Amino acid sequence: MQVSKKILQVLNGQKIWPPPIWLMRQAGRFLPEFRELRQQADFLTRCLTPDLAVEITLQPIRRFGFDAAILFSDILILPWAMGQNLEFIEGKGPVLPPIRNEEGLKQLTPENIQQKIEPVLTSVRILNKLINSEQSIGLAKAKSVSLIGFAGSPFTVACYMVEGGSSRDFSNVFKMIYQNPALFQKIIDLLVTTTADYLCQQIEAGAEVIMLFDSWAGILSPNLFRQFVLLPTQEIVRRIREQFHDFPIIGFPRLAGTKIFSYAKETNLNVIGLDQTEDISVIDSSIDNNIGFQGNLDPFYLLNGGNYMAQNAASICQKLRHRPHIFNLGHGVLPTTPVEHVYELVEHVRNLKD
Ligand code: CP3
Repeated sequence: MQVSKKILQVLNGQKIWPPPIWLMRQAGRFLPEFRELRQQADFLTRCLTPDLAVEITLQPIRRFGFDAAILFSDILILPWAMGQNLEFIEGKGPVLPPIRNEEGLKQLTPENIQQKIEPVLTSVRILNKLINSEQSIGLAKAKSVSLIGFAGSPFTVACYMVEGGSSRDFSNVFKMIYQNPALFQKIIDLLVTTTADYLCQQIEAGAEVIMLFDSWAGILSPNLFRQFVLLPTQEIVRRIREQFHDFPIIGFPRLAGTKIFSYAKETNLNVIGLDQTEDISVIDSSIDNNIGFQGNLDPFYLLNGGNYMAQNAASICQKLRHRPHIFNLGHGVLPTTPVEHVYELVEHVRNLKD
């Protein structure tokens, strides 16, 4: 039905030249129109007010005509919906009351998720209608944009829930893994169930692709990676496809290094996100050619713009021509990135010649 959309074609196993493009954090502080809206409402309000979330989601589509729109929300909306208080503090990032024992876990109210995520699902419904209407959205042609829904992977979300925010070394997470492994496993199991349900609801509401962000997957040793990243990811993918046969899913195990091999082999994802530390020339030949790749351009190249950016972008595209490929960065757009560099990058990728 929607196979005319390039991103969906890639997720379906096709190779497209030049590759379709979108950027992680394409809706964010580097955009002046985002910074303006940011004055009007705090982060949670922006995520939970459909008019605002829809508007912010579409801002980068209008400007750059990207091939995908990613729902404006956050991976921490799920713990928030389970009753863990969430604040975003300027200069500090997310802050939550940390969960460090059984009592903390018991205070969560997963039975209320449904009601609390309703505004997020409303945004997805509105976005699906808009991007599939006969009208173009700014630079994007009518019906060319795929809608990406997302969640954090259980391990990454658990990191924030246990630490109570961002962390340099995740010492409280490792302390729990070693001193109370049953409790950490309980948190992961709860997140597997709630994340799979949450993603199924996004799909029902109109998300056309799902992406799982595992920003901290790479900090785990291989055995723990298997237990807390591979198995939970496998199970979420299984649960989604039990309800939505063959549904296209992207996984992003950031900083996984060589653990990317087992991730690619065992998770059944259509496309794997690569951070900028993955060496495509090294991993390419050991990962099945039917699995697509997304990402890899260092966000600092985009920050700096110019020839380096252009050459590195072209080199990634050339190296990945023989497999399904979605162009993206290795991590999110940095807030100080000049808007002009994003125009340059999109131009450059879209005009790549044979
Ligand atoms: O454009 C998009 O990519 C879609 C929206 C999106 C946001 N966060 C909006 C956001 C997505 C997909 C995320 C995912 C997310 N959130 C991740 C995984 C990807 C990654 O970056 O590793 C993580 C770890 C989070 C948790 C989070 N949210 C942190 C640590 C922070 C503070 C740091 C920062 O970049 O400001 C946020 C805040 C956040 N989420 C902002 C945005 C646009 C900035 C909010 C603002 O400044 O107004």
